[in-house]
Amino acid sequence: MKQISLLLTTFSLLCYSCGGAHHTKELAFVNDNIDYAHHQLKNALAVIEEDSSRILNPVTTRDDGSVVYCGYSDWRSGFFPGSLWYLYELTGDTAILTQAKRQTWNIEKAKDLTWHHDVGFMVGCSFGNALRIMGDAEYADVMIHAARSLSTRFRPAAGVIQSWDVTRGWQSQRGWECPVIIDNMMNLELLFEATRLSGDSTFYRIAVSHADRTLAEQFRPDGSCYHVIDYSLTDGSVRHRQTAQGYSDESVWSRGQAWAIYGFTVAYRETGNRKYIDQAIKTFEFMKNLKNLPADQIPYWDMSAPGIPNEPRDASTAACMASALYEMSTMHLPNAKTYEEYANWLMTSLASPSYRAALGTNGNFLLMHSVGSIPHNADVDKPLNYADYYFMEALKRKKKLLGEL
Ligand code: GLY
Repeated sequence: MKQISLLLTTFSLLCYSCGGAHHTKELAFVNDNIDYAHHQLKNALAVIEEDSSRILNPVTTRDDGSVVYCGYSDWRSGFFPGSLWYLYELTGDTAILTQAKRQTWNIEKAKDLTWHHDVGFMVGCSFGNALRIMGDAEYADVMIHAARSLSTRFRPAAGVIQSWDVTRGWQSQRGWECPVIIDNMMNLELLFEATRLSGDSTFYRIAVSHADRTLAEQFRPDGSCYHVIDYSLTDGSVRHRQTAQGYSDESVWSRGQAWAIYGFTVAYRETGNRKYIDQAIKTFEFMKNLKNLPADQIPYWDMSAPGIPNEPRDASTAACMASALYEMSTMHLPNAKTYEEYANWLMTSLASPSYRAALGTNGNFLLMHSVGSIPHNADVDKPLNYADYYFMEALKRKKKLLGEL
């Protein structure tokens, strides 16, 4: 009896120390990446500071390696400020806090935008994180104002928020009336937050209506999603199911799948409605089980692209999926642990020299090898500030899962 008890004690101690070693290794991985991001983003800020005439907001690089900066109305304007907020949260570096505030207020005018749907990305990633970390009412005011702007795009006949205007640019050449892209799911978090902040449930109702119609119309039976659904403004019926940034209308544009997984995870968090997380899981399982997914799990830009395995990868998809999966792993779902493990796998690949840039290279962006839009020949196999943003968010979520934040 004594021997059995001694064996059990030894076994538990071994398990405990294995668990401890595993925790230490995972924490070291996260801290190494935070340390790296700290150095690389400080490099980016040093370059930005050289131009004292304006506040530069980095997005990507050109073919010659020079950095592209954007104005407040670009859909990507909230990601760099947002990355700085995560960096401040993870390091406590007050110099980064100063820059995070400066970059955030620099895009305040985004709160007035009513001609595209992306105000949720822009204001949520910047002011949303500022509010979460600092708690100041002035950030809340901007969030509510932005939610009002976004809500002007709600089209009652279809029950959705219109993504793009169709009166100008390449969107005017597609014959659409009310195009909604799957990316739009990412804007709903702003609306949920605005209802909490203002007490006005209109924002919540618009978000739920949009999520419900998207769930009904945007997915295929296998769990993958279309990029664009065009609705009739008159009777709300579906006019077209198409793509804009994917290989073809019926193809699997990878970042769209990531937006769906992340967006429906948020919708479940905010409403508790199980059908949303069921869809997020179904889309994730679809992606994970694709036979042509490379060994490192970083998707090609479109999983139906004809040149696979010689097609560009999209690190932004992987970073967004990793962040969403870390959140899913906290949701008391049957396979919670597997979501965290898969996110760990994605993060290990992203943090390897194949994707994580050497310090001082890559225009001082963190990750290499993302794709903006191949059909528009824009930002192909380039760093993208949203890949970096979701990478930072995933690091923060993992650190929290480790109980270290
Ligand atoms: N929301 C635009 C994109 O994912 O490229």
